[in-house]
Amino acid sequence: MEVSGKTKVFCVIGDPIEHSLSPMMHNAAFRHSKIDAVYVAFKVEKGTLEDAVKGMHSFGICGMNVTTPHKTAIIKYLDGVDTVAEFVGAVNTVLNANGKLLGFNTDGIGALRALEENGVKTKGKRVLLLGAGGAGRAIAFQLAQEADELIILNRDANKARVLAGALRKRFNKRVVGNDLTPNVLKNWIEDVDVLINATSVGMHPHRDHTLVDKSLLKPELTVMDIVYNPVKTKLLKDAKSVGAKVIYGVEMLVYQGAASFEIWFNQSAPVEVMKEAVLEKLQAGGLSLEQ
Ligand SMILES: NC(=O)c1ccc[n+]([C@@H]2O[C@H](COP(=O)([O-])OP(=O)(O)OC[C@H]3O[C@@H](n4cnc5c(N)ncnc54)[C@H](OP(=O)(O)O)[C@@H]3O)[C@@H](O)[C@H]2O)c1
Repeated sequence: MEVSGKTKVFCVIGDPIEHSLSPMMHNAAFRHSKIDAVYVAFKVEKGTLEDAVKGMHSFGICGMNVTTPHKTAIIKYLDGVDTVAEFVGAVNTVLNANGKLLGFNTDGIGALRALEENGVKTKGKRVLLLGAGGAGRAIAFQLAQEADELIILNRDANKARVLAGALRKRFNKRVVGNDLTPNVLKNWIEDVDVLINATSVGMHPHRDHTLVDKSLLKPELTVMDIVYNPVKTKLLKDAKSVGAKVIYGVEMLVYQGAASFEIWFNQSAPVEVMKEAVLEKLQAGGLSLEQ
Protein backbone atom coordinates (compact mmCIF):
# COMPACT_ATOMS: atom_id res chain seq x y z
CA MET A 1 0.00 0.00 0.00
CA GLU A 2 1.31 3.43 -0.91
CA VAL A 3 2.35 5.62 2.03
CA SER A 4 0.41 8.89 1.94
CA GLY A 5 -0.54 11.78 4.19
CA LYS A 6 -3.31 9.60 5.62
CA THR A 7 -1.13 6.61 6.48
CA LYS A 8 -1.34 5.73 10.18
CA VAL A 9 1.85 5.11 12.14
CA PHE A 10 2.54 2.34 14.65
CA CYS A 11 5.86 1.63 16.34
CA VAL A 12 7.93 -0.31 18.82
CA ILE A 13 10.23 1.44 21.28
CA GLY A 14 13.15 -0.05 23.19
CA ASP A 15 16.91 -0.15 23.47
CA PRO A 16 18.40 -2.11 21.78
CA ILE A 17 15.79 -2.27 19.04
CA GLU A 18 17.63 -2.82 15.74
CA HIS A 19 16.98 -6.58 15.78
CA SER A 20 13.27 -6.34 16.58
CA LEU A 21 11.10 -8.69 14.53
CA SER A 22 7.97 -6.61 15.14
CA PRO A 23 8.27 -4.24 12.12
CA MET A 24 8.44 -7.20 9.72
CA MET A 25 5.59 -9.00 11.48
CA HIS A 26 3.19 -6.05 11.74
CA ASN A 27 3.89 -4.54 8.31
CA ALA A 28 3.12 -7.95 6.79
CA ALA A 29 -0.15 -8.00 8.76
CA PHE A 30 -1.06 -4.45 7.64
CA ARG A 31 -0.37 -5.29 3.98
CA HIS A 32 -2.37 -8.50 4.16
CA SER A 33 -5.32 -6.80 5.91
CA LYS A 34 -5.16 -3.82 3.51
CA ILE A 35 -4.72 -1.42 6.44
CA ASP A 36 -3.22 1.94 5.47
CA ALA A 37 -0.52 1.95 8.15
CA VAL A 38 3.21 1.54 8.67
CA TYR A 39 5.10 0.11 11.64
CA VAL A 40 8.56 1.38 12.56
CA ALA A 41 11.12 0.81 15.31
CA PHE A 42 12.44 3.68 17.44
CA LYS A 43 15.48 3.40 19.65
CA VAL A 44 14.45 5.14 22.86
CA GLU A 45 17.17 5.36 25.47
CA LYS A 46 16.56 5.26 29.21
CA GLY A 47 15.91 8.81 30.39
CA THR A 48 14.11 9.86 27.18
CA LEU A 49 10.97 7.79 27.67
CA GLU A 50 8.78 10.69 28.78
CA ASP A 51 9.72 12.62 25.63
CA ALA A 52 8.95 9.55 23.52
CA VAL A 53 5.48 9.28 25.05
CA LYS A 54 4.88 13.00 24.41
CA GLY A 55 5.98 12.32 20.83
CA MET A 56 3.36 9.60 20.56
CA HIS A 57 0.77 12.24 21.46
CA SER A 58 2.04 14.98 19.20
CA PHE A 59 2.73 12.75 16.18
CA GLY A 60 -0.58 11.00 16.65
CA ILE A 61 1.02 7.55 16.67
CA CYS A 62 -1.91 5.16 16.84
CA GLY A 63 -0.33 2.22 18.62
CA MET A 64 2.96 1.18 20.13
CA ASN A 65 4.76 -1.89 21.37
CA VAL A 66 7.11 -1.46 24.28
CA THR A 67 10.14 -3.58 25.02
CA THR A 68 13.20 -3.59 27.30
CA PRO A 69 13.97 -1.37 29.23
CA HIS A 70 10.67 0.56 29.23
CA LYS A 71 7.95 -2.02 29.93
CA THR A 72 7.52 -0.98 33.57
CA ALA A 73 8.71 2.63 33.45
CA ILE A 74 6.13 3.59 30.81
CA ILE A 75 3.16 2.92 33.11
CA LYS A 76 3.42 6.27 34.90
CA TYR A 77 3.10 8.17 31.60
CA LEU A 78 -0.07 6.37 30.48
CA ASP A 79 -3.69 7.34 31.12
CA GLY A 80 -4.63 3.82 32.19
CA VAL A 81 -3.63 0.15 32.04
CA ASP A 82 -5.64 -3.07 31.81
CA THR A 83 -5.90 -5.50 34.72
CA VAL A 84 -3.14 -7.81 33.43
CA ALA A 85 -0.64 -4.99 32.91
CA GLU A 86 -1.51 -3.63 36.33
CA PHE A 87 -0.96 -7.01 38.01
CA VAL A 88 2.22 -7.76 36.08
CA GLY A 89 3.55 -4.20 36.42
CA ALA A 90 4.57 -4.17 32.77
CA VAL A 91 3.08 -2.94 29.49
CA ASN A 92 4.01 -4.23 26.04
CA THR A 93 1.20 -2.62 24.02
CA VAL A 94 -0.16 0.93 23.97
CA LEU A 95 -3.34 2.04 22.23
CA ASN A 96 -3.83 5.71 21.43
CA ALA A 97 -7.59 6.01 21.93
CA ASN A 98 -8.39 9.53 20.74
CA GLY A 99 -5.51 11.00 22.70
CA LYS A 100 -5.81 8.73 25.74
CA LEU A 101 -2.88 6.32 26.00
CA LEU A 102 -3.98 2.91 27.30
CA GLY A 103 -1.52 0.17 28.26
CA PHE A 104 -1.95 -3.60 27.89
CA ASN A 105 0.18 -6.69 28.39
CA THR A 106 -0.28 -9.39 25.74
CA ASP A 107 2.65 -11.68 26.70
CA GLY A 108 0.54 -14.05 28.79
CA ILE A 109 -2.29 -14.19 26.27
CA GLY A 110 0.31 -14.85 23.55
CA ALA A 111 1.86 -17.74 25.47
CA LEU A 112 -1.50 -19.36 26.23
CA ARG A 113 -2.64 -18.97 22.65
CA ALA A 114 0.61 -20.51 21.39
CA LEU A 115 -0.10 -23.55 23.55
CA GLU A 116 -3.77 -23.80 22.58
CA GLU A 117 -3.19 -23.36 18.84
CA ASN A 118 -0.71 -26.23 19.08
CA GLY A 119 -3.30 -28.47 20.70
CA VAL A 120 -2.10 -28.09 24.29
CA LYS A 121 -4.77 -27.32 26.87
CA THR A 122 -3.67 -26.10 30.28
CA LYS A 123 -7.12 -26.38 31.87
CA GLY A 124 -6.98 -28.99 34.61
CA LYS A 125 -3.25 -29.58 34.06
CA ARG A 126 -0.21 -29.21 36.28
CA VAL A 127 2.16 -26.62 34.89
CA LEU A 128 5.74 -25.84 35.88
CA LEU A 129 6.85 -22.31 35.01
CA LEU A 130 10.50 -21.31 35.21
CA GLY A 131 10.97 -17.57 35.67
CA ALA A 132 9.13 -14.74 37.42
CA GLY A 133 10.46 -11.82 35.37
CA GLY A 134 8.19 -9.59 33.27
CA ALA A 135 7.17 -12.29 30.79
CA GLY A 136 7.00 -14.98 33.48
CA ARG A 137 4.58 -12.92 35.58
CA ALA A 138 2.33 -12.24 32.58
CA ILE A 139 2.24 -15.95 31.70
CA ALA A 140 1.63 -16.92 35.34
CA PHE A 141 -1.36 -14.54 35.47
CA GLN A 142 -3.03 -16.41 32.60
CA LEU A 143 -1.98 -19.90 33.69
CA ALA A 144 -3.26 -19.43 37.25
CA GLN A 145 -6.75 -19.04 35.81
CA GLU A 146 -6.54 -22.20 33.68
CA ALA A 147 -4.25 -24.76 35.24
CA ASP A 148 -5.20 -27.08 38.08
CA GLU A 149 -1.87 -26.38 39.75
CA LEU A 150 0.87 -23.91 38.88
CA ILE A 151 4.41 -24.17 40.19
CA ILE A 152 6.61 -21.13 39.68
CA LEU A 153 10.35 -21.49 40.20
CA ASN A 154 12.68 -18.52 40.05
CA ARG A 155 16.37 -17.92 40.73
CA ASP A 156 15.31 -15.13 43.09
CA ALA A 157 12.94 -17.34 45.09
CA ASN A 158 11.32 -14.40 46.83
CA LYS A 159 9.94 -13.12 43.52
CA ALA A 160 8.38 -16.54 42.86
CA ARG A 161 6.86 -16.72 46.34
CA VAL A 162 5.41 -13.20 46.21
CA LEU A 163 3.95 -13.85 42.76
CA ALA A 164 2.49 -17.21 43.82
CA GLY A 165 0.93 -15.61 46.90
CA ALA A 166 -0.66 -12.82 44.87
CA LEU A 167 -2.09 -15.32 42.35
CA ARG A 168 -3.48 -17.61 45.09
CA LYS A 169 -5.22 -14.63 46.64
CA ARG A 170 -6.59 -13.37 43.35
CA PHE A 171 -7.76 -16.64 41.79
CA ASN A 172 -8.07 -18.96 44.78
CA LYS A 173 -6.03 -21.61 42.93
CA ARG A 174 -3.15 -23.87 43.84
CA VAL A 175 -0.04 -21.83 43.04
CA VAL A 176 3.37 -22.59 44.52
CA GLY A 177 6.47 -20.39 44.39
CA ASN A 178 9.94 -21.74 45.05
CA ASP A 179 13.63 -21.57 44.35
CA LEU A 180 14.97 -22.53 40.93
CA THR A 181 17.67 -25.03 41.93
CA PRO A 182 18.39 -28.41 40.29
CA ASN A 183 16.99 -30.29 43.29
CA VAL A 184 13.76 -28.31 43.56
CA LEU A 185 13.28 -28.57 39.81
CA LYS A 186 13.83 -32.34 39.91
CA ASN A 187 11.18 -32.73 42.64
CA TRP A 188 8.47 -30.80 40.81
CA ILE A 189 9.05 -31.84 37.21
CA GLU A 190 8.08 -35.46 37.82
CA ASP A 191 4.37 -34.79 38.12
CA VAL A 192 3.74 -31.97 35.68
CA ASP A 193 2.12 -32.03 32.24
CA VAL A 194 3.57 -28.80 30.86
CA LEU A 195 6.96 -27.15 31.39
CA ILE A 196 7.55 -23.55 30.32
CA ASN A 197 10.89 -21.76 30.34
CA ALA A 198 10.17 -18.05 30.81
CA THR A 199 13.72 -17.18 31.87
CA SER A 200 16.28 -15.80 29.45
CA VAL A 201 18.49 -18.88 29.88
CA GLY A 202 19.38 -20.41 26.50
CA MET A 203 19.14 -17.10 24.65
CA HIS A 204 21.81 -16.13 22.11
CA PRO A 205 24.80 -16.07 22.61
CA HIS A 206 24.45 -18.72 25.38
CA ARG A 207 22.83 -21.25 23.09
CA ASP A 208 24.13 -24.32 24.90
CA HIS A 209 22.65 -23.29 28.26
CA THR A 210 19.56 -24.90 29.77
CA LEU A 211 18.13 -25.07 33.27
CA VAL A 212 16.68 -28.54 32.77
CA ASP A 213 18.87 -31.61 32.58
CA LYS A 214 17.86 -33.81 29.65
CA SER A 215 17.45 -36.80 31.99
CA LEU A 216 14.43 -35.03 33.56
CA LEU A 217 12.52 -34.75 30.29
CA LYS A 218 10.05 -37.41 29.12
CA PRO A 219 7.76 -38.05 26.14
CA GLU A 220 4.51 -37.26 28.05
CA LEU A 221 5.66 -33.69 28.72
CA THR A 222 4.87 -30.58 26.67
CA VAL A 223 7.82 -28.19 26.73
CA MET A 224 7.55 -24.55 25.71
CA ASP A 225 10.50 -22.16 25.64
CA ILE A 226 9.64 -18.49 25.28
CA VAL A 227 13.20 -17.72 24.17
CA TYR A 228 13.03 -17.35 20.37
CA ASN A 229 16.64 -16.58 19.50
CA PRO A 230 17.72 -19.25 18.68
CA VAL A 231 14.45 -20.73 17.46
CA LYS A 232 15.47 -24.19 18.64
CA THR A 233 16.93 -23.70 22.10
CA LYS A 234 18.94 -26.39 23.83
CA LEU A 235 15.92 -27.09 26.06
CA LEU A 236 13.67 -27.64 23.04
CA LYS A 237 16.24 -29.76 21.22
CA ASP A 238 16.60 -31.96 24.31
CA ALA A 239 12.83 -32.17 24.72
CA LYS A 240 12.34 -33.13 21.11
CA SER A 241 15.04 -35.78 21.28
CA VAL A 242 13.20 -37.59 24.12
CA GLY A 243 9.90 -37.43 22.23
CA ALA A 244 8.25 -34.58 24.16
CA LYS A 245 5.93 -32.14 22.40
CA VAL A 246 7.69 -28.81 21.87
CA ILE A 247 6.32 -25.29 21.41
CA TYR A 248 8.68 -22.63 20.07
CA GLY A 249 9.07 -19.11 21.47
CA VAL A 250 8.41 -17.81 17.96
CA GLU A 251 4.83 -19.03 18.35
CA MET A 252 4.36 -16.87 21.44
CA LEU A 253 6.02 -13.93 19.72
CA VAL A 254 3.49 -14.14 16.91
CA TYR A 255 0.46 -14.55 19.18
CA GLN A 256 1.47 -11.70 21.53
CA GLY A 257 1.86 -9.56 18.38
CA ALA A 258 -1.49 -10.79 17.09
CA ALA A 259 -3.09 -9.76 20.39
CA SER A 260 -1.58 -6.26 20.01
CA PHE A 261 -2.97 -6.06 16.46
CA GLU A 262 -6.39 -7.07 17.77
CA ILE A 263 -6.29 -4.35 20.45
CA TRP A 264 -5.37 -1.72 17.85
CA PHE A 265 -7.81 -2.72 15.13
CA ASN A 266 -10.54 -4.68 16.88
CA GLN A 267 -10.34 -7.37 14.19
CA SER A 268 -8.66 -10.79 13.94
CA ALA A 269 -4.96 -10.75 13.14
CA PRO A 270 -3.62 -12.72 10.14
CA VAL A 271 -1.45 -14.96 12.31
CA GLU A 272 -0.14 -17.20 9.53
CA VAL A 273 1.07 -14.17 7.57
CA MET A 274 2.71 -12.79 10.71
CA LYS A 275 4.39 -16.10 11.48
CA GLU A 276 5.73 -16.40 7.93
CA ALA A 277 7.16 -12.87 8.12
CA VAL A 278 8.92 -13.61 11.42
CA LEU A 279 10.40 -16.88 10.19
CA GLU A 280 11.57 -15.19 6.99
CA LYS A 281 13.28 -12.47 9.00
CA LEU A 282 14.91 -15.01 11.33
CA GLN A 283 16.21 -16.98 8.40
CA ALA A 284 17.53 -13.84 6.69
CA GLY A 285 19.42 -13.09 9.90
CA GLY A 286 20.97 -16.56 9.95
CA LEU A 287 18.68 -17.78 12.74
CA SER A 288 17.18 -20.59 10.77
CA LEU A 289 14.78 -23.22 12.03
CA GLU A 290 17.57 -25.74 11.64
CA GLN A 291 19.54 -24.31 14.56
N1 LIG B 1 8.48 -15.26 22.78
C1 LIG B 1 8.05 -14.07 23.17
O1 LIG B 1 7.07 -13.52 22.65
C2 LIG B 1 8.72 -13.37 24.30
C3 LIG B 1 8.09 -12.30 24.95
C4 LIG B 1 8.74 -11.68 26.04
C5 LIG B 1 10.02 -12.12 26.43
N2 LIG B 1 10.60 -13.16 25.75
C6 LIG B 1 11.92 -13.67 26.16
O2 LIG B 1 11.79 -14.17 27.48
C7 LIG B 1 12.99 -14.01 28.21
C8 LIG B 1 12.66 -13.31 29.54
O3 LIG B 1 12.16 -12.00 29.26
P1 LIG B 1 11.63 -11.03 30.43
O4 LIG B 1 11.10 -9.82 29.76
O5 LIG B 1 10.75 -11.78 31.37
O6 LIG B 1 13.00 -10.67 31.16
P2 LIG B 1 13.22 -10.24 32.69
O7 LIG B 1 12.06 -9.50 33.21
O8 LIG B 1 14.57 -9.61 32.72
O9 LIG B 1 13.30 -11.65 33.47
C9 LIG B 1 14.35 -12.54 33.28
C10 LIG B 1 14.03 -13.87 33.97
O10 LIG B 1 15.09 -14.81 33.68
C11 LIG B 1 15.66 -15.25 34.93
N3 LIG B 1 17.10 -15.52 34.73
C12 LIG B 1 17.98 -14.76 34.04
N4 LIG B 1 19.19 -15.35 34.05
C13 LIG B 1 19.06 -16.50 34.76
C14 LIG B 1 19.95 -17.54 35.12
N5 LIG B 1 21.24 -17.52 34.75
N6 LIG B 1 19.47 -18.59 35.84
C15 LIG B 1 18.17 -18.63 36.20
N7 LIG B 1 17.28 -17.68 35.89
C16 LIG B 1 17.72 -16.62 35.18
C17 LIG B 1 15.39 -14.12 35.91
O11 LIG B 1 15.51 -14.59 37.23
P3 LIG B 1 15.75 -13.55 38.45
O12 LIG B 1 14.41 -12.92 38.73
O13 LIG B 1 16.24 -14.38 39.57
O14 LIG B 1 16.75 -12.53 37.96
C18 LIG B 1 13.96 -13.76 35.49
O15 LIG B 1 13.04 -14.72 35.98
C19 LIG B 1 13.92 -13.22 27.28
O16 LIG B 1 14.77 -14.16 26.65
C20 LIG B 1 12.99 -12.59 26.26
O17 LIG B 1 13.61 -12.39 25.00
C21 LIG B 1 9.98 -13.79 24.72
